[in-house]
Amino acid sequence: MPRPPLEYNATLIERHDITPRLSVFRVRPDADEYAFVAGQYTVVGLKQGEPRVAEADQEEPGAADPEKMIRRPYSICSSVHQPEALEFYISLISGGELTPRLFNLREGARLFVGPQPRGTLTLEGVPAESNVLLVATGTGLGPYVSMLRSHARDFPAQQIGVMQGASYSRDLGYLNELTHYANELPNLHYLPTISRPEQDPTWQGATGRVQHWIWSADFPIRFGFSLEPQQTHVFLCGNPGMILETQELLLGRGFTQDAKGVEGDLHIEKYW
Ligand SMILES: Cc1cc2nc3c(=O)[nH]c(=O)nc-3n(C[C@H](O)[C@H](O)[C@H](O)COP(=O)(O)OP(=O)(O)OC[C@H]3O[C@@H](n4cnc5c(N)ncnc54)[C@H](O)[C@@H]3O)c2cc1C
Ligand SMILES: NC(=O)c1ccc[n+]([C@@H]2O[C@H](COP(=O)([O-])OP(=O)(O)OC[C@H]3O[C@@H](n4cnc5c(N)ncnc54)[C@H](OP(=O)(O)O)[C@@H]3O)[C@@H](O)[C@H]2O)c1
Repeated sequence: MPRPPLEYNATLIERHDITPRLSVFRVRPDADEYAFVAGQYTVVGLKQGEPRVAEADQEEPGAADPEKMIRRPYSICSSVHQPEALEFYISLISGGELTPRLFNLREGARLFVGPQPRGTLTLEGVPAESNVLLVATGTGLGPYVSMLRSHARDFPAQQIGVMQGASYSRDLGYLNELTHYANELPNLHYLPTISRPEQDPTWQGATGRVQHWIWSADFPIRFGFSLEPQQTHVFLCGNPGMILETQELLLGRGFTQDAKGVEGDLHIEKYW
């Protein structure tokens, strides 16, 4: 028997635009509670017939099935202690199928959210005596925002490093919130870094891609721990180029990739 078509089951209750191409969406599922583990993702969907935002590339009219649900995975940024609304941090891909439609939504719009959270980029299995380094490019910060919001006071690690890479300082979503956590928690060390400082002359902070800081000699001074396997769990999330380069170097340094059936100290989520 064919499956019944998917229908909208959630409402966009709030939207905060960081830039015209980078937004935070807060979505309330119709179901009363949405249980998830910090770091997981779920699927978000809109029907193909929904209009695209003007800033994005436009599609050829006509060929598509307007009822087809376009679905993509998005990391949940909200706290597990506030399961009534899910927060997503999303960048607009101009030629993409879903994000140009998502960026056209206003508060009150209906959309689809997958009934189940998914994913293994979580703190489960990280021993409390370890240090944790959370490395993100772009919207890959999302899972870590959820981990910090959910577990700021009971984070299962000794020292916590958060490294956030973006091209420009305006793309450093959650900068104030993470700075606040770093000021409040003595074992949290936060390093936002931008890779195109020549086009961002007012930025006073760190510059360079995240790898530059992972391999810098003053890593232990900045983060309060050394990048040693067995003592450190590293999380990588976002741009596949960053992940490939960093993964290769960390595996060469003795880290083991976490996978089905293998308990490793290197945890990875590629966004595309
Ligand atoms: C587990 C998981 C979690 C994810 N979580 C998030 C999240 O929290 N926030 C978020 O913004 N995205 C996230 N993504 C990416 C997201 O699922 C979509 O791929 C993205 O939003 C593009 O969707 P689209 O339909 O607009 O473009 P598509 O039509 O799917 O893709 C168009 C092209 O863009 C490329 N592409 C996809 N994403 C990006 C990107 N971010 N930057 C550059 N090129 C890209 C694809 O390879 C493809 O070639 C996640 C992906 C995975 C696998
Ligand atoms: N976020 C926005 O406001 C915005 C605006 C316009 C377009 N977009 C589009 O949205 C998509 C996502 O953009 P994004 O800026 O969020 O994410 P992104 O392109 O993944 O860039 C985020 C960070 O990752 C870095 N990076 C890229 N490749 C890397 C590698 N191999 N190793 C280490 N770091 C690497 C980038 O450095 P570099 O700066 O050196 O590339 C940047 O610092 C892109 O398709 C982009 O064109 C986004």
